[in-house]
Amino acid sequence: MAILKVARLGHPVLRQVAPPVRSETIREAETQRLIDDMIETMREYEGVGIAAPQVHVSKQIAVIEATDNRRYPDAPDIPLTVLINLEVTPIAPELEDDWEGCLSLIDFRGQTPRYQQVRAKALDRDGRPFEFVATGFHARVLQHERDHLLGKLFIDRMKSLETLSYLAEFSRHWKH
Ligand code: NI
Repeated sequence: MAILKVARLGHPVLRQVAPPVRSETIREAETQRLIDDMIETMREYEGVGIAAPQVHVSKQIAVIEATDNRRYPDAPDIPLTVLINLEVTPIAPELEDDWEGCLSLIDFRGQTPRYQQVRAKALDRDGRPFEFVATGFHARVLQHERDHLLGKLFIDRMKSLETLSYLAEFSRHWKH
């Protein structure tokens, strides 16, 4: 396994729409290695998710996980989940603002509206389809990662940039 370099805001790969993964290539060694490296990279940088475009690979693959995360100490646990060709559909129309960050905008936090409850559909790392319903922070992480596959970042979803804060200022002035 390897820790991969993370693309930062301004790298064009973050703005590309990633093509879906062909299901017959999911079990190939190259795809499996990429998934392992994404998990390693997410854990190394204490993300709660990472998408393939963030490691300079324009493919619809994301991984998410939250357990005692130092960057998000209040986050509920999310089991390690590999999401290939992820689709996210809101179940209810209500949006809720909460603080969001991103390994590609490592020093920033901003209040970002997201759907409170969503249905996620994806293929697992063996190519098997699965789906589940997620709420709250889990739903937020799924929408954030789905956005990466569409070339979108959380700052694009903010209603206004007034709350966009450096992490140090966020901790000093905003953290509850
Ligand atoms: Ni991100």
